[in-house]
Amino acid sequence: MIIESIIKNNITYNKNGNTYSFIQNEEERPLWSQKLNNYLISSNTDLKMTEKYKQNKLKINEITYKRFFDFITENKGIGVDLASGPSGYFSPVLDRLSANYFFIATDACPAVINAHSSACNNSNFYVFDMDLDKQLPFKDESVVAFSGNLLNNVDHYADLINEVYRCLKFNGRFAVIEMFFEHGCKTYEYINKQGAVWASFETFVGYCKNVGFTYLNSEIINSRKGKISDGDLFPLDDNDCSTERMIYFEK
Ligand SMILES: C[S@@+](CC[C@H](N)C(=O)[O-])C[C@H]1O[C@@H](n2cnc3c(N)ncnc32)[C@H](O)[C@@H]1O
Repeated sequence: MIIESIIKNNITYNKNGNTYSFIQNEEERPLWSQKLNNYLISSNTDLKMTEKYKQNKLKINEITYKRFFDFITENKGIGVDLASGPSGYFSPVLDRLSANYFFIATDACPAVINAHSSACNNSNFYVFDMDLDKQLPFKDESVVAFSGNLLNNVDHYADLINEVYRCLKFNGRFAVIEMFFEHGCKTYEYINKQGAVWASFETFVGYCKNVGFTYLNSEIINSRKGKISDGDLFPLDDNDCSTERMIYFEK
């Protein structure tokens, strides 16, 4: 199995079709994923992943998204999406799967894992139930590309970037869509004090360069002032601005 050739030796997992679970004990699930799962189950939410895949596939018609998905699927090998979540944003990749390109969606929320497993039965698509706050189960220099959409729920984002670097092949690619606060604004000051790598775009790029990545470029895909909805924790001040960006790195 090609997919199993990139899993580190001595790692235990359960396998059900194309779904692999690396979380052997329910107490090991990250809190955020447990909370999301409890909410989805108790509210009887249907994630409608098949529909989301269909809608998100249309993104390929937008040049910014085409660039993003071209970037992570251009080279032969296995691509991994980090904390894939309920949006199904990565679905344009599914039309690019081949005998030369495999893709793994990852998450730690069982409802999200099941939704992805049921929505796509392409034999080159895999779903990994795993905790991204721990060492990744992949061998050194085994993955051709990592992607991620809004990863700041992961508790140890900085450590995850180091792990991504370790697992990427030489010249491997790392592309993320992330939301950042303007350098110097109140929200930035607050998040930065906590040592978060995503405090600002500059902080994030600086951190990735320190890890060893070459920064290639970035594109702003959205900017806003103030909160998206009333209950949001951030920004702390209604005048604070944030931007959503696509950022491209290479090892
Ligand atoms: C804000 S979302 C990320 C957005 C997601 N990429 C999307 O497009 O929908 C949060 C997702 O990250 C997952 N998550 C949070 N912490 C995680 C961890 N340590 N390991 C694996 N998944 C995690 C959650 O289970 C949830 O599905």
